[in-house]
Amino acid sequence: MTDHKTLMKEALKAREYSYAPYSKYHVGAALLTASGKIYRGCNVENAAYSPANCAERTAVFKAVSEGEKDFKAIAIVGGLEGSGTEGAFPCGVCRQVLFEVVDENTFEVIVGKNEEEYSVYRLSELLPFGFRL
Ligand code: THU
Repeated sequence: MTDHKTLMKEALKAREYSYAPYSKYHVGAALLTASGKIYRGCNVENAAYSPANCAERTAVFKAVSEGEKDFKAIAIVGGLEGSGTEGAFPCGVCRQVLFEVVDENTFEVIVGKNEEEYSVYRLSELLPFGFRL
């Protein structure tokens, strides 16, 4: 079973590819599937600003577009260029995107600085009453 520390390490690796020349805020995410596979994602910004994609959504869209359907947890790490890392809570849009594809009562959101310092939340704590059709 992949542990929280491993997922945090993967999120730190994902952050290395973050493309954030505008905000300079670099984010990495690591999404764990039920079969133990990890999909990494980073934020990808754009000169037109609004097309930017968050790290969490990059990871979710990569996984779903490869046929993955069962997710256990996501680890997220952020931080301004040149500063240390910090816990980056998923934005509201990313919470709703996760809500669509996971069981919010069991899915874990791991937010922290590194593999030693992090906290674990359930998605249901971060997005109560998410929208479902
Ligand atoms: N960002 C993420 O990647 N994930 C979040 O949950 C919050 C924000 C990115 C978007 C943008 O590229 C940068 O962080 C600053 O907002």
